[in-house]
Amino acid sequence: MYRACIADDSEGGAVLGWKAGGHVLSVRQFDSASLKEIFAVSDRCFVPPSGPSRLAEGRLMAAIFYEPSTRTRLSFEAAMLRLGGGVISTENAAQMSSAAKGESLRDTMRIVAGYADLIVLRHHDQGSAQLAAEVADVPVLNAGDGPGEHPTQALLDAYTIQRWRGGLDGLHTVFMGDSLYGRTIHSLCLLLRLFPGQHYTFVAPPNAQPPRALLQELVAGGVRLTVTSDLVAAVRSADVLYVTRVQRERFADPSEYERAARCYRVGPEVLEALPPTGIILHPLPRVNELPEEVDTDPRAAYFQQARLGVPIRMALLGRALGVL
Ligand code: ASP
Ligand code: CP
Repeated sequence: MYRACIADDSEGGAVLGWKAGGHVLSVRQFDSASLKEIFAVSDRCFVPPSGPSRLAEGRLMAAIFYEPSTRTRLSFEAAMLRLGGGVISTENAAQMSSAAKGESLRDTMRIVAGYADLIVLRHHDQGSAQLAAEVADVPVLNAGDGPGEHPTQALLDAYTIQRWRGGLDGLHTVFMGDSLYGRTIHSLCLLLRLFPGQHYTFVAPPNAQPPRALLQELVAGGVRLTVTSDLVAAVRSADVLYVTRVQRERFADPSEYERAARCYRVGPEVLEALPPTGIILHPLPRVNELPEEVDTDPRAAYFQQARLGVPIRMALLGRALGVL
């Protein structure tokens, strides 16, 4: 059970690589030192049950979600409440906010910034968080911008790997699934490249291959890349198997989605090939690609991964509010 961070604040003067009180829009804002500091602050968010902290008392977070969410919205809200702050939110902003009457995102963000101390935004357009940050005079945290990025997810993914394996150097990560529209893959592969010796293998449906510009950026950053359709061979040397769902909502043609969705699944042959030290992650939700039978495998880390969203988001909110 996570409880709000009331641990000793002796490290409070530490300077993160991104501006305290600033936006969280992309993993490109972080360096390895800032990541380690976020993890250290997150570590301090595990304390014995003692009720919510009062660190964020009197402060308000606005959670504005134009796309569905279970984990991101609720873990952000839990994190804010555990810090002693308050929450205002709209979970179906496309229908239930004045966006349904034609209000622009810019106007909505300007207005919400007048009501809350920070904004957590999920929106279907790539670049929406950046746009929000341009008009809002409070910190904006990107909770997923269309097929663009999901930076806070990547932070908790990396945190899970760090806690599970004890480090992030020299990893072989197999990214299975939709690498074209999968924003969690985009963010995580850009984040892990901050650590030396990374090898990524992409196992993606033919119509959901990683964007060429992303691959070029990774190669330029010194990452060793493999692109293959042989999942079993790929996982034989994997440290991390990062499974993702095919992003149905991004495909204009349903038959293209069906074609992609049938390609890969974590079956018994994949589990057999994955080394005993490998870990299986999934940002969730899962559909068919990760059967429930995998849940009892000792390498299945995805439920713990989802839980770690709370301390990571406590750390991010605390830094954005300047209270941690
Ligand atoms: N929940 C993650 C996201 O919002 C992954 C997914 O939906 O497949 O990007
Ligand atoms: N991992 C994740 O973003 O989950 P939700 O879409 O449920 O928020």
